[in-house]
Amino acid sequence: MTFDLLDGSFHPPLFLETLCREEILNAFRRLLQRTPFYGVYKAFGHYPDYWYWILRGRPTRSPHLLKQKTVREYGEKFKVNTLIETGTYYGEMVAAMKRNFSQIYSVESVPGLAERARKKFAAEAHIKIICGDSRIVIPELLDKLSRPALFWLDAGYYGWIGKQGESDRLSIEIKSILSDPLEHIILLDDARGLTGRDGVPSASDVKAYVESTFAKRSVEVKYDILRIIPRSLSDGAD
Ligand SMILES: C[S@@+](CC[C@H](N)C(=O)[O-])C[C@H]1O[C@@H](n2cnc3c(N)ncnc32)[C@H](O)[C@@H]1O
Repeated sequence: MTFDLLDGSFHPPLFLETLCREEILNAFRRLLQRTPFYGVYKAFGHYPDYWYWILRGRPTRSPHLLKQKTVREYGEKFKVNTLIETGTYYGEMVAAMKRNFSQIYSVESVPGLAERARKKFAAEAHIKIICGDSRIVIPELLDKLSRPALFWLDAGYYGWIGKQGESDRLSIEIKSILSDPLEHIILLDDARGLTGRDGVPSASDVKAYVESTFAKRSVEVKYDILRIIPRSLSDGAD
């Protein structure tokens, strides 16, 4: 903390200033979330979010635009035409990917959010919003697939708006996807949530489990996204 001798003002250390700014932004976001304007803000918010992230020196929590780029690139690189998302929320990933995949399924457990997304994508025949618990819906979807799919796992696995996450949900889904005879690709968002505390596995636990149980898969974490791909296709994956 420093004092300015000329005007008597005091300046908190930089880390405190940054912390305050983050807190104010988060409080503003939480307030906005309770209003009907949140959907609109989210639609315009991607670019400012992205540049703000660059300005802050690319902290662990990555912006949605980067997540969209990763999902798009993995679809192209591994020549996968079906995207399956857990956690639709406001349908931002679905909207961003609607021209990149020929079939998109998105699973949302909150009926109001699922209904909102259904209306939003009603005109898109290749997009299906399914209301239900991803733990139950994912195995049902796997039964229907005839070609490998890209899974975007983003259903608040470590807790969501104050609710405690169910520690087994992630492992149930990863296990069912990797046990399928088709070689699916998995991207898990918010890998920083894999803390290794309070019953939540660490990212290295997940890597060790996947690579020892499913020897043909390799796991890496980059930009807060845990990526599980077939080992045979791992060369040159970002
Ligand atoms: C982080 S948001 C998803 C953001 C979205 N994937 C995107 O990229 O824009 C998490 C969502 O997962 C939903 N969710 C939580 N538990 C779920 C479950 N068991 N099955 C399906 N959706 C779930 C929440 O209601 C919330 O809408």
